[in-house]
Amino acid sequence: MKVRKAVIPVAGLGTRFLPASKAIPKEMLTVVDRPTIQYIVEEVVASGIEEVILVTSAGKSAIENHFDYNFELDTFLEQKRKHGLAEEVRHISNLIDVVSVRQKKPLGLGHAIWMARNVVGNEPFLVLLGDDLVQAETPCCKQMLDLFEELQTPIVAIQRVPQEETHQYGIVEGQAVRDRLTKVNRLIEKPAPGTSDSNMAIIGRYLLTPEIFDLLEKTTPGHGGEIQLTDALMALSNKNGMYAYEFEGTRYDAGDKLGYLKAIVAFASCHKTLGPAFRRYIKEMAATL
Ligand code: UTP
Repeated sequence: MKVRKAVIPVAGLGTRFLPASKAIPKEMLTVVDRPTIQYIVEEVVASGIEEVILVTSAGKSAIENHFDYNFELDTFLEQKRKHGLAEEVRHISNLIDVVSVRQKKPLGLGHAIWMARNVVGNEPFLVLLGDDLVQAETPCCKQMLDLFEELQTPIVAIQRVPQEETHQYGIVEGQAVRDRLTKVNRLIEKPAPGTSDSNMAIIGRYLLTPEIFDLLEKTTPGHGGEIQLTDALMALSNKNGMYAYEFEGTRYDAGDKLGYLKAIVAFASCHKTLGPAFRRYIKEMAATL
């Protein structure tokens, strides 16, 4: 079955990015020349998805507005003959159909995804975390969609992390099937040091089947008192099987201050117009450190 929809949860409080995220959603913080969330929606569009479902909360309307048409701004720019800029701004509102559902309380990522159940319906769908950026030649979602066509089984994207960082992630254990592909045996949310030998960390890209919604409904609060997606993923894996895919590309956690700075450097270095000057500056800067 074709994957047509992508769910992007953006309802979290962003406490790791305070005070910047007090009044501005962290997903609206700028990486070079556009907000983080725009990169994520562009990845979805480049992967051939037809509809985005944002899971939002109070205080996140800037995200919905960013993808909406702004008549006043458009008219103003056209009157000032700034046609190029007007076109660029219109382009954002024409990227893809965006609907939003509300998560009234931040009860966890699993709960946020469950809120999208009626809009997703009975079909496979993608989940992208609103603060996880992936820089890749082939968009990470596209890589996963191609794999899903072959496997027809849920897939989580993973990256290898140093053993001392595994306690910060959802960790996958399983058997290697082929290069970059592992059949999942177990998923553990933020394992205590020494409790798992695996260094395969789940990142913010999932390709799920609709059975996940019933499983989420049955999931009781786990780590941190939140409805954890990882717990429902374990149940889905037991029921339908699951693969972990080591995607090609680099992931940046833009919801974390250091991760966000790294993302800016990576995306600025590759930027079409700013890239060459930025790379020169970084070299000069590095020489003084
Ligand atoms: P994070 O844990 O990275 O986001 O969740 P957070 O809770 O906003 O941030 P911190 O940890 O307090 O700094 C991953 C994604 O899941 C969404 C977040 O918006 C983020 O995109 N999320 C998380 C929800 O939509 N609802 C929740 O209840 C929790």
